[in-house]
Amino acid sequence: MTEQEPIYRGKAKSVFRSDNPDELIVKFRDDITAFDGAKKDELARKGAYNARVSAYLFRYLEENGVSTHFVRMEDETTMIVRPLKMIPVEVIVRNIAAGSLVRNYPFEEGAPLNPPVIVLDYKDDARHDPMINDEIIVALGFMTTGEIAEVKKAALKINDLLKEKIDKIGLDLVDFKLEFGRHGDEILLGDEISMDSMRLWDKKSHASMDKDVYRFDKGDVMATYAEVVRRLTGE
Ligand code: C5P
Repeated sequence: MTEQEPIYRGKAKSVFRSDNPDELIVKFRDDITAFDGAKKDELARKGAYNARVSAYLFRYLEENGVSTHFVRMEDETTMIVRPLKMIPVEVIVRNIAAGSLVRNYPFEEGAPLNPPVIVLDYKDDARHDPMINDEIIVALGFMTTGEIAEVKKAALKINDLLKEKIDKIGLDLVDFKLEFGRHGDEILLGDEISMDSMRLWDKKSHASMDKDVYRFDKGDVMATYAEVVRRLTGE
């Protein structure tokens, strides 16, 4: 497989073309950022930990009927994926009130959300990812009303599946962010599902086991990520 300059370089991953037009190469880097890139660091093994968890969860979702961009792992930081035309909407599913929901609305941190709350954000760092609604998404031509319903239904199914998995390793799945993209006529789950994109709380200690450890200097970030990898994959 020949590699050139990335065709896309995000804050934590780079995307390269491959020899196969129906496959892209995603490299998970050790860069970690928070607050729209205002806080940045490089943490050894972070890319490998996030790639490991993403691959594990994509495989699990595929086995349970969710269509994702995941094809295979090439090495511990390199994921082969289907090329997607990304939809610039972050689909956030929340089971417990935390983060921006608590900052922006009168929820108590830790309050259970039953049924789960779906929040849609417009993915645009320069605008600080503002919340978007169905009407704006349709007006901007990002998705049709039917596609929005399809994506929300998929997000709730993914939530049920992830919650079951995360529960078993002694963690609460507080919230997580998904990104979807088009592959031909299909909408597939893309991006990653990792400690960078989920909020996980230890059921006993209520300690954060995710990027909040980095965001708010709560402890050893890589020891935390390694612990999630160990509990989830046994490695
Ligand atoms: O910041 P907020 O509370 O809205 O984040 C909700 C969830 O979505 C968290 O798990 C967070 O890590 C994730 N998220 C993300 N990328 C963003 C915004 C949020 O992965 N740009």
